Amino acid sequence: MTLASADAATTTPAVSTLAIVGAGSVGSTLAYAALIRGVARRVVLYDLNGAKVGAEALDLAHGMAFMPMGAVEGSDDIGICAGADMVVVTAGAKQQPGQTRLELADRTITLMRTLVPQLVAVAPDALYLMVTNPVDVVTYAALKISGLPPRQMFGSGTVLDTSRLRYLLSERCRIAVRNVHAYIVGEHGDSEFALWSAANIGGVPLREFAAATGTLTDADLAEIADEVKNSAYRIIDGKGATNHAIGLAGVRIIQAALRAERAILPVSSLLDDYLGVSDVCLSVPSVVDRDGVGERLEFNLDSSELANLRASADEIRAAARQFGF
Ligand code: LAC
Repeated sequence: MTLASADAATTTPAVSTLAIVGAGSVGSTLAYAALIRGVARRVVLYDLNGAKVGAEALDLAHGMAFMPMGAVEGSDDIGICAGADMVVVTAGAKQQPGQTRLELADRTITLMRTLVPQLVAVAPDALYLMVTNPVDVVTYAALKISGLPPRQMFGSGTVLDTSRLRYLLSERCRIAVRNVHAYIVGEHGDSEFALWSAANIGGVPLREFAAATGTLTDADLAEIADEVKNSAYRIIDGKGATNHAIGLAGVRIIQAALRAERAILPVSSLLDDYLGVSDVCLSVPSVVDRDGVGERLEFNLDSSELANLRASADEIRAAARQFGF
């Protein structure tokens, strides 16, 4: 049997390439989730540690028979990111037990000052998803360093925190998580807060659902929001780092972008007069599409929510200013 030997140059379809920078636990988990979900036809991993990134890629490639058709490569040469459709940056300092994400800023911004220009040089047209913490400050700094349009570079923000909130509400209300709609907004960090006024269970406003079912007092809601805010600390104490849920959250964002879903996700992006908040990257529900972050959804925040949003913006802005951004 002879297979038709087509001319590759004319018949090879353009395939989407996802480049993941950093082959640590988050980067390799994100690569695994991306391959399992088939969000990109080709996944490349870049890390300064050649042995590690090569081994991660090989270990993933050995599972190819159990995944949607794809390809995975790893290299310590940043050129492997050339021409990528989307670049996800996970490289950075690891949050230690009890350490806040903002305390990582010094080391990660120093890294971004060299890394971001190198990435933009090989992939100027890619969408950039920053995952490295403190993700809001890193996204703002990386955007300024890159000179890219704000819609092209954004952060994973509170997509993970929102998933944690929806999980906890789902457990408390004994309702499928897909039918629990609620957001954590603001900083992916200690000044984040739940947008209770916009939360609903199957379309029923949360507080009406709570009153009708006798579940979820205001004290319960405060406890849930606190549990979300402290989830990472708890997991880091137990296993040294978080990786599974942030990997899945990252892939959800990548899928929305590469599949041009126009999905609404609370990603971290540069705000310009969002309910009066400007010149800061933080998370509000936003449309994620093939060309990046589009419309931000505006809600009728109550006075405490508006105060929380402004306080979160001030926290992030102050941290960015510390490093000259
Ligand atoms: C967490 C890390 C990704 O919240 O900041 O798990």
